[in-house]
Amino acid sequence: MTWLETLINTEIIDRIAADPRTTADNFLGYPKQHVFADVLQGGRRIIEVPLSLETPAGEIVSLSVTDQALLYARYNQKGHLHELMHAFRQLIGTWRGEISILDIGCGPATGGLALASVVGPAQAFRYFGCDRSIAMLDLGGRLMAKARELDGIHRASEIRFVPCLNDVDFGNRRQVTTLGSGPINLLN
Ligand SMILES: C[S@@+](CC[C@H](N)C(=O)[O-])C[C@H]1O[C@@H](n2cnc3c(N)ncnc32)[C@H](O)[C@@H]1O
Repeated sequence: MTWLETLINTEIIDRIAADPRTTADNFLGYPKQHVFADVLQGGRRIIEVPLSLETPAGEIVSLSVTDQALLYARYNQKGHLHELMHAFRQLIGTWRGEISILDIGCGPATGGLALASVVGPAQAFRYFGCDRSIAMLDLGGRLMAKARELDGIHRASEIRFVPCLNDVDFGNRRQVTTLGSGPINLLN
C-alpha cells in the first residue's frame, strides 16, 4: 500500500467508520446514498457553516463543518486525486527544477497530496493552498502533516495554507525558473 492510500484510509475512511453516528446505512448520521446530493451538493457546497438537514426519512441531522469536510474527502477527493496526479505527471514530466504550486480552491489539499505523490519524497517543492473554507484548510493541513509523518514529502518542502490570496507570501524573488500551476476549482 502506498503512503497516500494509508493516509486516506486512516484519516478519512477509518475516521468516518469509527464515528459513533456511522452505521451500515449512514455516514456521520446522514444516509450514505444522499450525502453527495444533499450534504455536498455534488461537491459545489462551500463548507463554511454547520448544517441542519432533514433526511428523506424526515429525521433532522446536524453536521459540523469538520463533518462536512470529511464527507467531501470521502466522496470527492479520491477521484480528484487521480485526475490531478495524471495532470501533474504530464505537467512535470522530466522537469528537475524548483516546483511551486498555487492551488486555488485547494479543498483538503487535494493538489498538494497529488503533487507529493507524483514528485516523490526525494524532491522538495513549495505548495500554497488557498481556500475560503477554514474547515477545508484544517483538513488539508492535517493531511499534509500526516503525509510528512509517513515520509511521503521531502522534509525541505514548504507547505502553507491561506484563506485569501492576499495572504500568500511567495518569499524573495528567485533567480530560478519556477513551474507554476493552479488546479483550478474556483467556483465563484
Ligand atoms: C469542488 S471543491 C475542490 C477542492 C479541491 N481542489 C479538490 O480537487 O478536491 C472547490 C473548492 O473551492 C473552494 N472555493 C470556492 N470558491 C472560492 C473562493 N472564492 N475563494 C477560495 N476558495 C473557494 C471551496 O471552498 C472548495 O473547497
